[in-house]
Formats: sequence, C-alpha cells, structure tokens
Amino acid sequence: MTHSPRTVIVLAAGEGKRMKSALPKVLHPLLGRTLVGHVLATAAEVAAERTVVVIGHGADRVSAHLTEIAPHATAVLQAEQHGTGHAVRVALDALPEVSGTVVVLNGDVPLLRRETLAGLLRAHESGGAAATVLTAEVADPGGLGRIVRAPDGGLERIVEERDATDEQRAIREVNAGIYAFDGRLLGAALSKLSTDNDQGEEYLTDVLGVLAGAGEPVAAHVAVDAEETLGCNDRAELAGLRRRLRDRVNGDWMRAGVTILDPATTWIDVTASVGRDAVIDQNTQLLGGTEVAEGARVGPDTTLIDTVVGEDAVVVRAHAVGAWIGPAVSVGPYASLRPGTRLAPKAKVGTFVETKNAEVGEGSKVPHLTYVGDATIGEHTNIGAATVFVNYDGVAKHRTVIGSHARTGADNMFVAPVEVGDGAYTAAGSVITADVPPGALGVARGQQRNVDGWVAKRRPGTPAAEAAARALGEAEARPEPEPEREPSTE
Ligand code: UD1
Ligand code: MG
Repeated sequence: MTHSPRTVIVLAAGEGKRMKSALPKVLHPLLGRTLVGHVLATAAEVAAERTVVVIGHGADRVSAHLTEIAPHATAVLQAEQHGTGHAVRVALDALPEVSGTVVVLNGDVPLLRRETLAGLLRAHESGGAAATVLTAEVADPGGLGRIVRAPDGGLERIVEERDATDEQRAIREVNAGIYAFDGRLLGAALSKLSTDNDQGEEYLTDVLGVLAGAGEPVAAHVAVDAEETLGCNDRAELAGLRRRLRDRVNGDWMRAGVTILDPATTWIDVTASVGRDAVIDQNTQLLGGTEVAEGARVGPDTTLIDTVVGEDAVVVRAHAVGAWIGPAVSVGPYASLRPGTRLAPKAKVGTFVETKNAEVGEGSKVPHLTYVGDATIGEHTNIGAATVFVNYDGVAKHRTVIGSHARTGADNMFVAPVEVGDGAYTAAGSVITADVPPGALGVARGQQRNVDGWVAKRRPGTPAAEAAARALGEAEARPEPEPEREPSTE
C-alpha cells in the first residue's frame, strides 16, 4: 500500500517523577524490552522514513540504549522539559521540512499493538484529518487527558485532568498519547501553544483544540481494546502493565499450541519463543532470547535467560544463563547452568550440579552434586557424584578434558589442566593432577589403614565398644566376608 511519507516522533525526555527512580522512566524493563523499546518496536511497523526520539532526562543512558536497540533512530535533545508540545516542537526544529504524516507516540505507552497503530494511520490518512488522536473508553480515567466532544460528536479539545472542570472529569473517554498529524499544519499549530495551564507547560494535547478552532478537521480514533492505551506513570502501574502483557503473551503462545500449566506464574519475554507441544510448568520465566523447542518440558520453578532448549528436553527447577540444552537432554532438579554450557543430545545434568563453559557430550551424565567449570566431556561418559572440576589456580582458568565412555569415581577433583582418556576410570576420592591415559584406572588417594581393636582400647565402655564386641563375637561364628570392591555411583 502506498501512503504519504511518515515521520515518527517518540517522546522520551520526561523524568517520570512518579517512578521515584534513578533510572529514566522509559528505560524501565517490561518483559524483554524497555518501555521505549516496546514503543520503538511498534513504531518500526509503520514504515516511517524517519524516526526521532526526543530525549532529555538521563539523556546519556537513553541515547546509549537507543544506539543498541534502534540505531536507525535519531535522538534529539530536549534540554529542558517544558511539556509534550514543546518536545514535539524541539523534534520538528531538528528536522528538515516535514510533509506527510507525523506520528507522535508517548514513550510510556508500551502495550499499543501495531494493528491498532496501523488502524489509526489508515483512519487519519484516508479521512484527510489535520490531526487524529487515539482514544479509549476506560473505567478509571484518573490522571489522563479527557476527550471533550462537541454537541455534534466531533472532537473539540483535550483537557488535562488537573485543568478540567468537575463535569469534564466525569468524561471516561481519554487521550492515549498516540497521535497522527498532518505535517504541514503541525509546526504552525505548535507555535500557537500557550503555557497557561496548571503545569505551565506547552501541551501537545492543545494542538487538537488549536486546529479545531481554526476550522481544520480533527478526529478521534477509538481503540477497541482500551488496555493498549495504558500509560505508565508509577511502579504500581508498571506492574499492572507487566501482568497484562504477560497474559497477552501467554495467550498468544497457548493459541500457538504451547501448554502453559499456570499462566499466572509464567513470564515469557516478548523476545523469547516456544515451540508447539512444549509444556511450561508453573513458576517459570523464559527471558531474553530464550528458545524452547517443540515437545520440551520446562519447569516448575525455572528461570531460563538467553538459553536454547532442544526438542523433548526436560528442565526441572533450574536456572540457566546463556546455555545450550540439546534435544532430549535432562536437567535438574536443582541445576545451575552458566554461560558457555553446551549439553549435547541425551546428556544429563542432575541435582545440585553447576556448569560453566562446559561441553557435555551426547549421552554423558553428570548426575549429582558436581561443579563442571571449563571442561569438555566426551560421549557416554559418567561423572561420579560430588566431583569438582578445579579450574582456577587463583590467577588463570584452565581446562579439563574427559574422553568418551569414561567412568570417573565419586568425590574426584580434576585439577586442570588435566586430561582423562577415552574409556579410562578414576577411583573414588581421587585428586587427579596428572593425565590418565585411555583405558587406565587413575588412583590418587591415601591408602587405607585399619587399626584393629582401637575402639576397645581407646573408648572402652562406650556404646561403640559394646557394639563392636557384639559384632566381633558374631563374626567368629560367620564365614569370611566378600572382598572389598570399588564403590561407584551411576
Ligand atoms: C500525557 C497527555 C495526556 C494523556 C497521557 C497518556 C499531555 C499534556 N498529556 O499525560 O493527555 O492522557 O499522556 O498517557 O501530553 N515528555 C517529553 N518532554 C516533556 C514532557 C514529557 O518528552 O517535556 C514525554 C515523557 O517522557 C513521556 C510522554 O512525553 O514519555 C508523556 O509525558 P507524561 O508526563 O507522562 O504525560 P502524562 O501526564 O502522562
Ligand atoms: Mg504519562
């Protein structure tokens, strides 16, 4: 579809006093993006020639963030914030002559859907209005600008709550802070704004009244879903937006074939993705660029950040950051996967296991109570319980390499750099400081010595001594015990 050239202006210079925060309001996070990040993601859909973001409060931080998330956007500094109208004036001053449509978006209205914005633009551009504002009927209009309509139903002006009469305050149709203007008329209308209001600011909302007063056609476009127009002025409102966005995101995934057992405690960032027939159990967060493949089961009580989960993998009560969990892998319960973890298909990382910069090969198992740091483990290898990959000598990190089909004993220390070959074993309780060749058994522990009769001599009369005496008496009547074996865990 062809349309007139479009310019998007996002207002993001305000301090957001009511947030009571050192962080500029528009940088507060909301399920995977900042507030302004959501607005820019929606704005990206209107195919604008130019996107301008007006910054002011915390300009350095906001502009650094914009460079990261929207390098195509131009930041314009509004050094002193004299209101939303002033902000748009500053933006226009920084631009060459604008024609076509100027779309203005408040930086703190993040739930707007792109279809709704597209609908506003269609209505505006096809109706030939000088200005069109997105409005909504809400149950509680508190704090918002009210839409004052003329007796014929047309838009007359917008009045801010603090400047409104009691009668106007009763109006439940509010200004969403999303507008389309005819670029040729906007500049002149802005120059006519007064600061004669309760805040002594130039209100963008007054542009509608100025244009209407000059006989230009102005229109209100009512949003079907009032929720999309909600702004965010304090942290309680931010929490409300987060809850609504969570419900929207979860609803979308459930309709796409994902089972979410408890949508009220499942938080999926807008940047994450989940495949069909995946099951997300309660109290689970899928954050950042996390991708969960088809048929995987995640949760309960699991947080995945920038983590990939393969098909049919099972991840229970785990915390993972920057990890790659292959197909049919089993993780947890109670596992911590740190960046650089790669678990090949059918691998297992079990209970109270921490991994970092660790590759675990296909079908290999690290089942219990273990730290795997800076290590490569081959295929079909079993790591004994309570093993530590000793990767840090106090200055530098070193790597441990364990081969395929190896069996390492319980309570081992692998003091890196060290290598255990394919098919090798290590004995329980070993501190492995030298390489173990393929097929060898590495034993690195003190020899056991039994001091017979020590308890009878040194702890006479104790329950231990009595129990020992009884056992020794019975042993005389019993045949020889089996020889000692190497204990192991699977
Ligand atoms: C504004 C509207 C109100 C509407 C509401 C919707 C005005 C006068 N009022 O009120 O009618 O119902 O949004 O959420 O516009 N900003 C700047 N520079 C400034 C002042 C503000 O860039 O000098 C930015 C803020 O960062 C914010 C946006 O403009 O992103 C809106 O400002 P805010 O103070 O939140 O206005 P509201 O009181 O919410
Ligand atoms: Mg606001």
